[in-house]
Order: sequence, then C-alpha cells, then structure tokens
Amino acid sequence: MCGIVGYIGNKKAAPIVLDGLKKLEYRGYDSCGIASCCTGIQIKKGVGKIEEVEKIHTLADIEGNLAIGHTRWATHGGVTDENAHPHSDCSGKICIVHNGIIENYESLKQDLTSKGHKFKSDTDTEIIAHLIEEYNKGDLKEAIFQALKKVEGAYALGIISSDEPDKLFAARKESPLIIGVGEGEGFIASDVPAIVNHTKKVMYLQNERVAVITKDDIEVFDLEGNKKKPIIREILWDAALIEKQGYDHFMLKEINEQPKAIEETINGRIKGDKVDLSEEIKLTDEEIKKISNIVIVACGTSWHAGLVGEFMLEELARVPVEVEYASEFRYRNPVLGKNSLIIAISQSGETADTLAAIKEAKAKGCRIISICNVMASSIARESDSVVLTHAGPEIGVASTKAFTSQLIVLYLITLYFGKIRGILDDFIVKCRIRDLRQLPLFMRAVLEDTEKIKDIAETYYNTSNSLYLGRGIEYPIALEGALKLKEISYIHAEGYPAAEMKHGPIALIDKNMPVVVVATQDNITYNKVLSNIEEVKARGGIIITVATKGDKVIASKSDTVIYIPKTSYILSPVLAVVPLQLLAYYIALKRGCNVDKPRNLAKSVTVE
Ligand code: F6R
Repeated sequence: MCGIVGYIGNKKAAPIVLDGLKKLEYRGYDSCGIASCCTGIQIKKGVGKIEEVEKIHTLADIEGNLAIGHTRWATHGGVTDENAHPHSDCSGKICIVHNGIIENYESLKQDLTSKGHKFKSDTDTEIIAHLIEEYNKGDLKEAIFQALKKVEGAYALGIISSDEPDKLFAARKESPLIIGVGEGEGFIASDVPAIVNHTKKVMYLQNERVAVITKDDIEVFDLEGNKKKPIIREILWDAALIEKQGYDHFMLKEINEQPKAIEETINGRIKGDKVDLSEEIKLTDEEIKKISNIVIVACGTSWHAGLVGEFMLEELARVPVEVEYASEFRYRNPVLGKNSLIIAISQSGETADTLAAIKEAKAKGCRIISICNVMASSIARESDSVVLTHAGPEIGVASTKAFTSQLIVLYLITLYFGKIRGILDDFIVKCRIRDLRQLPLFMRAVLEDTEKIKDIAETYYNTSNSLYLGRGIEYPIALEGALKLKEISYIHAEGYPAAEMKHGPIALIDKNMPVVVVATQDNITYNKVLSNIEEVKARGGIIITVATKGDKVIASKSDTVIYIPKTSYILSPVLAVVPLQLLAYYIALKRGCNVDKPRNLAKSVTVE
C-alpha cells in the first residue's frame, strides 16, 4: 500500500530509485514519481503505472546522487498528477514521500493554511512537508521531530531537502520502512525487493524513530532526539526470487512454487516422528495444556487460512477456536481470558487491521503467536512468538503460496498442541506426519495437469457470476476460490457453505451460472453435497467439481471434474485450492486482466 524508495551515495540516484519502485509496484500502482536533489529539488510525477509515467516524464533522467520515489495507492485525494508523490513545502526545498494515513490532517491543514501555507494537492501527505517547513529553523532533523510529534496516524516517510543535500531522512510509525546499508551508499524502502539487488544488509526502522542517512553512516533517533543504536541484519533472500524466472506472471510462478514453499515450511520442524515448535512458539507444555481457547485474527486470504486452522485445531487438538476478521475484532470488546491464545495470520506481517487486533489482544493480557511470511515485519515484532511460513517473497497481489504455507503451519501447530494436550498419541502423529510429507509430491501432480483447468477457463471466462460451494474444511476453500476469481478477473463470485445455498443463493441459479463445488473426500457430508449438486442441476446450473481422483459418482453428476490426489481429509484444502488458483489465473488471463496488479488492490494493506 504505497511503495517508498530512497537512495543516497555516489551513483546517479534516480535510476536506482526507479528500479526499486518497479520492484514495489505490487504495493500500489495508480501513480508514481521521483524527486532528486542536485542544484535544487527536481520532481517528476504523474498518473499511471510506472511504465506509463516513465514514458511521459523520463523519471530516470533527473540528475543528483540523492533521490526519493513513490508508487501510490490512493487514500486521501483522487488519482491525479497533483496528488501523486513526492510532495513539497511552499519553498520547494523540502520534499517527501509517504506511506500511511495522517488522521488529523484536516486540523493541521487548517492551522497551516491560517499561517499562510499554500497547498497544491488534496493529500494528507502534503501537510507533513509544510509542517516540517513551519518548524524548520535551520536544522531539518529538529524540525522533523517537532512535526512528527504533531502528527496522528501512520507514516513511513522519506524526506530530502536542498538545504541538506548530503542527508536522506527517514521516519516511521506503524507503516513499514527498512534502511539498506551499502558500501558508500544508503537506501530506504518499504520492502526488501526494492533494494536486495544492491545490499543484503538492512535495518528495520522501529516505530516513532527518525533515521538520518548519509552515504557513509546511519544515525537513529527517537522523537525526543535521543540517539538509538541501529541494528543491522542480513537478508537471506536470493535476489532471483523476486524475478519472474521465465513465467508470464508472478502469480503463476508463485502457484508453481507451492510444493517447494510447503517443503521449506515443513523443514526443520519435524524431529523424528514428532513436530517440534518449542523454540518458535516459546510456550511451556504446561502453558499449552492450559490454553482455554484460541482466537485467530486475520484478513482476506489469511482469514480463510484461519478458518481451515479452526477446523484442524478443533478436530485434532480439541481446543475451542474462533476466527475473527482482524478489522472487526478490536471494535467489539472481545471476551478474552488469561489463558486465551491469539494466533494472528499475515503474509506481509504489515496489515494494519491485523496489527491493531494484536495490540487490542495484548492490552487485554493475551499471548500472541503470529504466522508470518516476513521475518522482522511489524506483526512478527509485536507478537510474543512467530512461526514463519517459508514461502519466500510473494509478489503477485493475489496470495497463493503464502496461503498454502499458512495451512501447513496451522497443521504443524495442531499436531504439536494435540500431542502436548494428550489428544493425539505418537502413532496418530506419525501417521499425520506421513500424510503431510506426501503433499508436495501430490501438489506437483496437480500442477502438471492443467489442461482441464485451461479448458474450463476457455469455456467460462465470459461469465459474469459464479458460486463456489464447499462444506466443513472445504468451505473456506470455496471462499478462497471465489476471492481469487473476483480479485483478479473481476467476475462476481460468492463462496457459500454448500448446505446454505438453499437458504437464498439458490435463487441465482440458472443455465448461465457456473457453480464450483469442492467435494474431495467421502466424509460425513459428502452425500449431502451430492444432493446440493442435484439441486443446482435441477435448476439448469453448470457444475464444475474439484474431487478426489477416481470419484466416478461425482463425475456422473458434474459437467466437468478436476481431480486431485487422495490425501487425508484434513489436508485436502492444501491440494484443493491449487486448481481454483489456476482457474482464476487462466480466466483472468483470457479476460485480458492484469493478473499481478489487479485494479484497486495492493499487496500490503497498511491502512485501516
Ligand atoms: C487476497 C489477498 C488479501 C490478503 C489480505 C491480508 O489474495 O492477498 O486478501 O490476504 O490483505 O494480507 P496479509 O496476509 O498480508 O495480512
């Protein structure tokens, strides 16, 4: 949700910043811009994706060894050239890029207007440039401290001034920002992909800190001006991971990376025939036994993973679980006890709603475990412990490999808790681990057999509505399949528990309505799902099923079947979601949609 990049060093800054912005375009892509400091500040910006703006404004051409850039996902103010970042003060000397939302911007703007400041945009961001100008008495760092003390809300900021051309300033509260340390050069960025080609040494700027970066040094301060020690970490990523590596889209690459991602996520967590998460979860066996209930908080696809986790944990570890939209959780005064455990799930680790839910639960004295894909992200740092998904960087806006890796972590936690709580014995755990180890192989088989999915996409890509049905642990997969389709193809899709269809959505069924049914196993509700399929057929609907290989009964009732290998019912979501990801992908492709950058969406939603 908005991407920031900045550079200071001996090289020409604008091309480096531009390159970084391209790597961050998944965070926002309605407009972009760069400001560079040479003999003064020069800004180039405009509406459109970076490629389009670059053609008109030749962003990389600006001279100077100090520059900041931004790719925007609009919050305050429409998508216009004026509202694109960077923004400057009245003098044109102070220039900033911002990710986040300034909540008290209207009152600040009124105040600054009454003092004679003239605004050029409708953004909340611009007030920060003017606020710094207002406090600037010759020491920009001091002015930044003063200004940020007045600001309410979230910010990650890159700031430059023609009066201090040898410094790149950065500041952060809630929105993510990292600082890269190179040889004779420094970087700032919203996320690692922007700078990993240049340096693997990074510092995660903490909340309410200001950094002053020169080409040879970094100093970090709190808002009172007290110096803080910078902690530099080494990024373990391979830069190649953020390239498409021959795939047409990141989404397709990431779908295909899933067997590897789940292998990596399992690796090192199974010792002999046991799951061992003790070092990551950091709860004693006694504490695990005492857990009275678990509340899972998450958003979007991660929330769907939570719903699968609820099923796993209740079935195999017998702990009561509730799954909450993180955005709702904090506004409904949840009842939590001292033995309640919170599990926060987030691919990015930066989702503002999930972060806020964690803070709410923390304030109520709960212990927080997070499941994140980004080490040292805000959610990981706010939590008492973190179990990482080792999916590798996920660039496509629609989440795929992070989702299946989240399911694997939830399964591992389930087995770990189930054993310690005395629900699962050694033999059952051993069998469940054997099922888990088979998954990457099974998933590769699903990925190798995509012709059927492409045919279905070819037949139905022109549809305007669709329904996704599933029961039990497959219901969240119906939700996830529907979400994937709507977000990248813009076809209206609804996910429903299959049995609920007769309570309303059945009214939508006609001969133009494809109904995707996930019914992979013969569990207690399988026969009932078959009846639901009959109900759809009786009304002329089109049935596409995701079923277990060899299931001829379901084939006889469906217009088309996508088969997946047989696995245990509790792990079937990990396989069943893959054809639905591919179906959404191929349909979106046929419709000419921008799969990796769907309209109105951004990868990491850092505003509430
Ligand atoms: C959908 C998608 C979103 C995210 C949601 C939460 O494909 O990617 O629904 O799942 O915004 O994001 P994280 O997991 O980063 O907290």
